[in-house]
Order: sequence, then C-alpha cells, then structure tokens
Amino acid sequence: MFDLAIHGRVYAGELAEAWVSIKDGVIVKVSSEPAGRAAATLELDDAQILIPAATDLHVHLRDWTQAEKETVETGTKSALAGGVTTVADMPNTVPKLETGELVEARVQLLKDRSFVDFAIHAAPPAESAELRKIRRAGAFALKLYPPDLPSFRGLLKRAGSEGLKMAVHAEDEKMLAAGRSPEAELVAVRKILGEVGPRSQVRFAHLSTSEAAHAVLAKKQSHAGLTIEVAPHHLFMDSRTSMARIGEASRVNPQLRSQANSRAMRGLLKEGCFDFYATDHAPHTLKDKLTKGAPGFPGLELALPLFLTKTEDVPLLCRMFCEAPAAYLGTRKGKISPGYCADLVVLSRRRWRVDPEKFVSKARVTPFVGEELRFAVDQVLMRGSTVYREGGFVRHPALLAR
Ligand code: DOR
Ligand code: ZN
Repeated sequence: MFDLAIHGRVYAGELAEAWVSIKDGVIVKVSSEPAGRAAATLELDDAQILIPAATDLHVHLRDWTQAEKETVETGTKSALAGGVTTVADMPNTVPKLETGELVEARVQLLKDRSFVDFAIHAAPPAESAELRKIRRAGAFALKLYPPDLPSFRGLLKRAGSEGLKMAVHAEDEKMLAAGRSPEAELVAVRKILGEVGPRSQVRFAHLSTSEAAHAVLAKKQSHAGLTIEVAPHHLFMDSRTSMARIGEASRVNPQLRSQANSRAMRGLLKEGCFDFYATDHAPHTLKDKLTKGAPGFPGLELALPLFLTKTEDVPLLCRMFCEAPAAYLGTRKGKISPGYCADLVVLSRRRWRVDPEKFVSKARVTPFVGEELRFAVDQVLMRGSTVYREGGFVRHPALLAR
C-alpha cells in the first residue's frame, strides 16, 4: 500500500493528468490510472498543478551575528513558502565561513534549525591546508567574491583536488571602485575564462549582463563544466523601474541594469542558455538598506511565481529551478519520476499582489513590490509529507547535501 497518492495535472516531462504514488518519502509510480491503494489521497483542483519542489543554489541565510537581517528559521520558512525545499547557503556570514570548524558549526545550526534540506558554500581559507577540513566538515563548494578573484587559478586547482565545486561572483574588484559598471562584470568573466581548463567546474553566480553571458556561452562549447546562474531581479527587473519604486534601496550586487539588458537576458533565458535559476536571496533590514546601502533583496518567496508569471514556461522553470540544481548538488530531487524524492509543490493559477509586509522572510524590501503575480504556492511536500500549507509550517529533519 502507498502512503500517499496525488491525482491531478502533473508536470512529469509534460503537463498531463496523472497519479503520483508515494511510499517512504519516495515517488514510486507516475501513472495515468491509480496504481493501487494508498493510505491518503490528495486530489488537486482544476486550477492546480503539481511540480517538483525547487532547489535554490544561492541563498544568504545570515543568522549568527546578523540574526536581525534573517535567521535560519525565517530564511528557510521563506524558502518553503516559495516552493523551495533545498537551499545552498552562502559563506559571507559574520564570521566568514572560512575554516573547517566554522563549517561544522554552520552544518549543526542548519541541522538544528532549518526547515529545508541544505548545502554549504565555504569561503576560501587563509591556508590551503584548511580546504580538506572544510570539505570534511560538509561544505560542497567554495564561493569566491571579487577580492578573492586574483587567487582564482590556484584556488580552483586546490578546491578541485579536494572535491569542492566552485562558484564565482564575477566583478572586477579594481573597476568596482569607479562604480559598479557592466564592464566590471565582463572584465572579471573574461579573466576567469582565460584561466579555466576544459574540465574545470565553475559556476558563474548571478550573471547580470547579456555580454558576460555571451562570453561564457562561447567558452562553454568547449568547456562543459562551466555553468551560468541567473537571478530573478536581473531577468525581470531593471534599474529604472526599481528606482521609481524603491529609490535608493534598489542596490544589489551586481547592480540592476538597463531595460534593454534585461530584455536581452530574457531572450537568452527563453533560448535555454542558462543552467540555473537562483534567487541570491540577500536579506537586509530596511535601515541597513537605507543608511548603509546594503545590497540585495529577499527572493525566496517570489522566485517561482514570478518566473511563471513572466514566462508561462513550466518546463523551463522545472529544468532551471528544480532538475538542474538538484543534479548539480547530487540529490535525487527535481523530477516527478520513480525513484525521486517526493519533494513536491502544489501550485495554483491564482492572482495575488506582492506585499513585502506579508513576507515570511525578515527582509521586506523588493523592487517587485505591488506587482500582480498569476501563480501561487498552495502546498509543499518534503519526502511525501506536507511541510507548508496556507501559511503554516511543519519542520522535518533537514538533510545536508554534500
Ligand atoms: O547583492 C548582494 N548581496 N550581492 C552580494 O554579493 C552579497 C549579497 C549579500 O550578502 O547581501
Ligand atoms: Zn549572493
């Protein structure tokens, strides 16, 4: 007997009516008829569809000394509310995640508090001997920020030999002093492309310009380990619209660009040029945004509905936000298919307006404020159990992906 059967319109390679039968947290069967008796049945309504839950490769959960901005609890509840059941945490915490000991403490904090499964990026350590400890403690990748880029080549080699992946924030540190221009991204991307080998595994985080994307795409033809991550705000927002809505709080790194650029980015998106859709969920207090120019927006609760509202492309969303990032982390998630984890999202076609005051995240400043979205997350399951529904959360054990 199955634990649960879900019946309705299901995205399993195509959107079609199906029964999804689940046992012990795993999808056992996807069939056009009921596959057998189940202890419980979930019947979707006509407005609802079932898709795999998302994996977000770029999330700043903060906590520790920055709990005012976000905690693991608020950040990961925010993830669930947005249909995300795995997050990859970023290492620019305070203190910075650059030792094995700190990675261990971070893993423990997430095991104790996270509402979703997780993976950990570490920062490059001062001594390369520390890389092994960082890997053993559970980090899966290094994340390089602009000041780290001069050491890119050496770090790539050493990280690779320890089995750590690498993600890079590509903006040229020296050029940033003169303002965060699109050229600063292109220059950094070109330098990195000049230093990678044919088998290097490098993920370009939040690429913001179509020029930089074209440069990576050209190199990708012969260097299959290069991947591109894009963020909602660089695809669906531009600097002018954001300034009109939230003024000086528009700051994010890399910056929002022109309308022409975001149009070009959406063109590339539609052609399937990008590997991963990731939020760069970067929570800050309103005070830090206004008085310190703190860069970044919360993204977890909007990313999925926003993507579908703007593109209506369920297969592309499922590839870039579910299947590809899960495969990258090595988890059996992101597909509604036998053998895959029953991490699922019930979405409905329903109109709602973005009201940051209602966010689960502590961060409340977004340039998408007031926009009408046409898709909403109704319910989220992890390993076959409901963990989010109508604003209510249930915490299940959080697993580390490494
Ligand atoms: O906008 C950003 N926010 N870009 C970054 O590189 C860091 C991030 C943060 O941690 O706030
Ligand atoms: Zn980031």
